[in-house]
Parts: sequence; C-alpha cells; structure tokens
Amino acid sequence: MEMQNQENWRALIQCVDDVLAEDVALKARIPSLPNRPWNVLDIGCHTGGLLEAIQARRGWTNISVNGVEPLKLARQKAIQKFPNGCFFEKLEQVPPQSMDLVVSHETLYLIDSLEDFSNQLMRILRPDGGAFIALGSHAENTAWMRWRAPLREKYGHVSYAHQPMDIQRIGEEAGFDVDVRQLHPPSRTKPKRYNPPEDGWGEFLSTKEMLEHREQKLVFGFWPKSLAR
Ligand SMILES: C[S@@+](CC[C@H](N)C(=O)[O-])C[C@H]1O[C@@H](n2cnc3c(N)ncnc32)[C@H](O)[C@@H]1O
Repeated sequence: MEMQNQENWRALIQCVDDVLAEDVALKARIPSLPNRPWNVLDIGCHTGGLLEAIQARRGWTNISVNGVEPLKLARQKAIQKFPNGCFFEKLEQVPPQSMDLVVSHETLYLIDSLEDFSNQLMRILRPDGGAFIALGSHAENTAWMRWRAPLREKYGHVSYAHQPMDIQRIGEEAGFDVDVRQLHPPSRTKPKRYNPPEDGWGEFLSTKEMLEHREQKLVFGFWPKSLAR
C-alpha cells in the first residue's frame, strides 16, 4: 500500500502548494509555511507514510506532524517515526482548534457519518486553517462498485459510497466552504501500469477503467466560512 500511495501522497501535497500559490486571499490568511510552525494532522495516517512525505517536502519546514489511526500496530509504527508528534486512536480525541492543516488520503470512505466527520473537522481546525481530504469517488467509480463486496468479505472492511455532492453539501452545512478538484489533473497524469495486490483484489478490467479510476480521485478542500475569501 505504501509504495502505491507515494504518487498519491505527492499529488495531495502538490494540491496544497497549488492552492497556496493560486489563491492570494487564502495565502494571506494562512501563514506561509516556513514562517511559523504548522500543526498538521493526517486522519487515517496508518504507519505515517503521508506524514513522512510532508516532512520531506522541500519548502515545508517548521512543521509538527500528528495523526489519527485506530489500528494500534500501525499507530505504534507512526509514533516510532515521529516521537514528538501526537497520535490519536480517534478523531474525537484531537484537541479543539489545534490544527492548521488537516490532510487525509483514502480514509473518508471508511467513515460512516459525513455529518460527524465535518463537525469534527470544524472542531479541530484553527479558525484560519483548512483541510484537504482525498478519496476515490466510491459512488461514481465502476471499479469501486465491483471491489466493495470482496473488500468486505475478504477483509471485513465496510466502505461507504459517499456521493461527492453529499461531501460538499454536508461540509457546507457544518460551516465550511468546500471546493473539489482532481487529485491527478490531466496535465499531470502519467499513468503507469497498475500492480494489483497479490491477492488480486483491486484489479482493473480495462485501461479505460484504470484511467477513469484515476480521474475520479478527488480532493475536497474544507475552509471555515467564518473567514471570508
Ligand atoms: C486505505 S487506508 C489509507 C492509509 C493512508 N492514509 C494511506 O494513504 O496510505 C485507511 C486508513 O484509515 C484508517 N481508518 C479506518 N477508520 C478510520 C476512522 N474512523 N478514523 C481514522 N482513520 C480510520 C485505517 O485503519 C487505515 O489505516
């Protein structure tokens, strides 16, 4: 999983850089990365791969990395990598208004309630913070429609097919401006042959399906409405 996700993690970090570069009002609102410590939280951090990529990113200095991970073994590995970070079993344990930047990659589809998730984001973000939540479109993606049942049968993972429009609507109801963009915009797309895991789960039936799967990976930006842009 870690190797396959490197490219997605880099693309997610690039999204943050793009938003800061293109949105002057937002940039003015969010302190520029090197100038003060940023408290970054990865929801569903597993062993901390995305957090490592964040720490290694050129220009992203003065960052304190933290994570939420319910799996004890994975969380312990993340703690070993980042002994100064705070790692939580549940999102509810993160202190209020403690995070400048929240990221999450392929975790929201494992979370049932979009309302609870959005309300928790609002609770933990500093008022001038923002969140970048990335996931494949599990409701609009033919590959995911096929993979969901075996994922449950083989691994017991229950996935939730959140509609992208619901993620936006419910985020707005919780008090955010929610924008959406592709994780892999076509201009940056260099698809390679996909190597499915050895057990065969996650295979594509065609190149078309593989390319569509990539196109359907979305990043939702959550910005507290209280801060006019
Ligand atoms: C598909 S993995 C993605 C891991 C990592 N974000 C990455 O990009 O490789 C989903 C992760 O979310 C975690 N997870 C599941 N339910 C969660 C929840 N309610 N809150 C936070 N993390 C959760 C899982 O334990 C797992 O580590």
